[in-house]
Amino acid sequence: MKRVIVTGGTGLVGKGIEAALAHGDARDDEEWIFLSSKDGDLSDLEATRAIFAKHQPTHVIHLAAMVGGLFRNMKYNLDFLRVNMAINDNVLACAHEFKVEKVVSCLSTCIFPDKTTYPIDETMVHLGPPHSSNFGYSHAKRMVDVYNRAYHAQHGSKFTSVIPTNIYGPHDNFNIDDGHVIPGLIHKVYKAKAAGEKLTCWGSGTPLRQFIYSEDLGRLMIWALREYPEIDPIILSVDEAAEVSIRDVVHKVADAAGFSRDDVVFDTDKADGQFKKTAANTKLRKYLPDFKFTPIDEGIKRSVDWFFENYEQARK
Ligand SMILES: NC(=O)c1ccc[n+]([C@@H]2O[C@H](COP(=O)([O-])OP(=O)(O)OC[C@H]3O[C@@H](n4cnc5c(N)ncnc54)[C@H](OP(=O)(O)O)[C@@H]3O)[C@@H](O)[C@H]2O)c1
Repeated sequence: MKRVIVTGGTGLVGKGIEAALAHGDARDDEEWIFLSSKDGDLSDLEATRAIFAKHQPTHVIHLAAMVGGLFRNMKYNLDFLRVNMAINDNVLACAHEFKVEKVVSCLSTCIFPDKTTYPIDETMVHLGPPHSSNFGYSHAKRMVDVYNRAYHAQHGSKFTSVIPTNIYGPHDNFNIDDGHVIPGLIHKVYKAKAAGEKLTCWGSGTPLRQFIYSEDLGRLMIWALREYPEIDPIILSVDEAAEVSIRDVVHKVADAAGFSRDDVVFDTDKADGQFKKTAANTKLRKYLPDFKFTPIDEGIKRSVDWFFENYEQARK
């Protein structure tokens, strides 16, 4: 019997894993335990040890992290560095101490060098400094890959990592000021619709992004835990052809919410951010050539419906 603990299991990605298990990915020889910060603060070594002692996991999916939007990152780079370094150090040290067979940790595409060539691939993680806005968070995440290689070199541990692109889905953080693009937009459309007002989006809407639906990511993380044989990270992303413009995303959110596209305004005086950050999923496609991603229209529809139906409880 395998016993899998999912740290940070109550967030967007943890709920995606839970959904994938509920929709056909569960196995009889696996027990899954989803943890939140209420089960213990993983930035504290003794609390982390107590969690491992209690659950005796054979496998770990490590999602817990101090996360936040651009402005919180810019203001608290030191906190993002220290807290995430502590969480990662404690989780991997305890995984080693308690003889965990495999750990899959979750990184992020923002860890890649700021100045790079496109498409980005797994070999580029350490090839230059990350963007200055969130260098604390990015360096802490990059170090997970260093830890994984060091644990493997010294102890033969099977600790690895995955790098998802932008994630969206039910149970996201829908905060407008501190959240990500899709949940922020969904919340803005909700408010504009309720107030009978126009929806103003910052920027021209031309930048391109790759979005992965949380349940697809959940399915791929379960695969990574069971099958992915490497220590080196793997990018978990939709194909390059599935890259969409922010304008398209805004229109899809509006359509899903029953909000007229004519009432959407793009404020082109506001900055656009990076034009694109295309990541290659060539490595993933080598392992899983036939994996089918949820089409973005369907994923957005499900996310919009979830937010409208769960408005009171949703994180916002
Ligand atoms: N969202 C994205 O677009 C995105 C993109 C790339 C990578 N990622 C990565 O994916 C992972 C999961 O992200 P998410 O979006 O699912 O985040 P989330 O929804 O904010 O969830 C974060 C989880 O971590 C837990 N946590 C935070 N601090 C903790 C601590 N000190 N001790 C124990 N647990 C703690 C939270 O518990 P509580 O709920 O109890 O606070 C929650 O379960 C993170 O590693 C993140 O860096 C996310």
